[in-house]
Amino acid sequence: MIIVGVGGGIAAYKACSLVRHFTEAGHDVRVIPTESALKFVGAATFEALSGNPVQTGVFESVPEVPHVRLGQEADLVVIAPATADLMARAAQGRADDLLTGTLLTARCPVVFAPAMHTEMWEHPATRANVATLRERGATVIEPASGRLTGKDTGAGRLPEPEEIGLLADLLLENPAALPRDLEGRRVVISAGGTKEALDPVRYLTNRSSGKQGYALARLAAQRGADVTLVAGNTVGLAAPSGVHVVRIASALDLRSAMTEHAADADLVIMAAAVADYRPAEVATTKLKKGSDGRSEQLESITMIENPDVLAGLVDARARGDLRPETVIVGFAAETGDDGGSVLDYGRAKLRRKGCDLLVLNAVGDGRAFEVDENSGWLLGADGNETALPLGSKTAMAGRILDAAVERVAAAGTGAAR
Ligand SMILES: Cc1cc2nc3c(=O)[nH]c(=O)nc-3n(C[C@H](O)[C@H](O)[C@H](O)COP(=O)(O)O)c2cc1C
Repeated sequence: MIIVGVGGGIAAYKACSLVRHFTEAGHDVRVIPTESALKFVGAATFEALSGNPVQTGVFESVPEVPHVRLGQEADLVVIAPATADLMARAAQGRADDLLTGTLLTARCPVVFAPAMHTEMWEHPATRANVATLRERGATVIEPASGRLTGKDTGAGRLPEPEEIGLLADLLLENPAALPRDLEGRRVVISAGGTKEALDPVRYLTNRSSGKQGYALARLAAQRGADVTLVAGNTVGLAAPSGVHVVRIASALDLRSAMTEHAADADLVIMAAAVADYRPAEVATTKLKKGSDGRSEQLESITMIENPDVLAGLVDARARGDLRPETVIVGFAAETGDDGGSVLDYGRAKLRRKGCDLLVLNAVGDGRAFEVDENSGWLLGADGNETALPLGSKTAMAGRILDAAVERVAAAGTGAAR
């Protein structure tokens, strides 16, 4: 059974979509709002969506002792939105309503999705409460930045329900999936395909959706890192919460953004699909068809090679433009052929690029690109090779980060990456 706790914030309405997310996946859901939450969304809405009764106090349905029973029976508790007040009460171990009482009896993973004004989020009292809750094993999701109540914007916005649902699903599968092991680390990740302009209306791109890079950025931020996501062409993905997004178009843009942001990074992950070639010339006016209905320029586009951004970052590290301990992770999408298997090509690529880890995906037959699942291998420059079983791109991001974090920690001690 999943408990969705709802605090009295303006974002309480988003809890409705979260309840839907869980019921549609087949879970039994109990909604426990606070008294204040019911000023924003009525009990009837939560009862209808969850199919279960809703109460806020400990003196209702007393013979069933709900303040003890619900927590004991829960597989997961997700509180969205978690108000400043609710986190303060939880951090103090209070049990003055059904939700806080439930938090004291729950032994399952507990997720707080905070939502409040930036000033409240940054206040030392809230920071201390968040730290206490995390120390005790709860997951406190990094809030998003954006429009808050009224006209102001800043950090403290509730992440979209899909994102909370995704992180909650991950914790349901593996309660240890979001350790704070990247706290104090700078992580720079590229994602998506590049766009190579041909003229003002046309460009060449590739089938990369950006989903794997976005999943990596999302998890790295939730594991405590300060994350910059250099994003190219993606399939309309929402920016992950707590991540600084830098938009780029071409491979040359990508190279400058990565060089700039990677300079002080602990970990750099090149998940973007960079075009190998770009049109030699970019027309300033639209390339038009002649009176015969044909365009010589469009029929014979001359292409020139793009820089190898990943190998360039490895060289920059060797030159001292990046910190020597920066761990660099590359991606390779390969197909096997008569010349060798996917693994053969992956190993050769790892040697050629000189990065510390290579995520190797077998592509073709609808695999890897644009879909939500992925599989492959993790090849380490140290000779370690791990198979990545077929799973969600989020689950794969977790595995990649586990291996990268190990190397980041080792690099900090001067050991071999
Ligand atoms: C319109 C309105 C919006 C509010 N939004 C938030 C919010 O987003 N986050 C927050 O921490 N408190 C917010 N508050 C304040 C809380 O409602 C207040 O602290 C309340 O005591 C929280 O109770 P609870 O934590 O038991 O739900 C808001 C209050 C009002 C009137």
